[in-house]
Amino acid sequence: METNVVLVGFSGAGKSTLGKLTAPLLGLRFVDLDSYIEQKLQYKVPQLFSQFGELVFRKSEYDALQELLEDEGQLIAVGGGAPCYAQAMKLIVENSFSVYVKLSEEALVERLANSKKPRPLTKDLTHDDLETYVRETLKKRAPYYEQAHLIISAEDITPEDLAQAILAELPQ
Ligand code: S3P
Repeated sequence: METNVVLVGFSGAGKSTLGKLTAPLLGLRFVDLDSYIEQKLQYKVPQLFSQFGELVFRKSEYDALQELLEDEGQLIAVGGGAPCYAQAMKLIVENSFSVYVKLSEEALVERLANSKKPRPLTKDLTHDDLETYVRETLKKRAPYYEQAHLIISAEDITPEDLAQAILAELPQ
């Protein structure tokens, strides 16, 4: 496939896991934006946040995304905040087939509470504070995610379901 597919959605929605398994079904290369940035800059995401601050990380996300979207044939999973800064969602919508991997607040809280990925924005939160964080941050971010070409409920979705939904909607 010559296009790019970009998965957006809140932290903990399963974009990377789902993306990695779905990409080969569509004949696409899987790219995880966080890992791509880590390789490019030789810093782990938590280090980027602590040493340079969130804004530098957001700029790195935008630059990496712009760079990747110059190529094609990729399924890119982007971090939960990536589409919500500067003109990143516009860049995604104009240069890829975008998919919002959507999960309920409750499911996101549970997934984040049990996840092993180091996430600077949620790592020190108690369960109550995590609930508040997810509720308030999702409210701000959903208007960006909802601009995606396809919105898919990811509650019990398989990679095959996602691949099929993308193929059904992808402009020929
Ligand atoms: C972030 C989400 C993370 C990562 C960074 C910031 C966010 O990716 O990019 O920690 O702002 O929500 P995931 O969506 O994979 O958790």
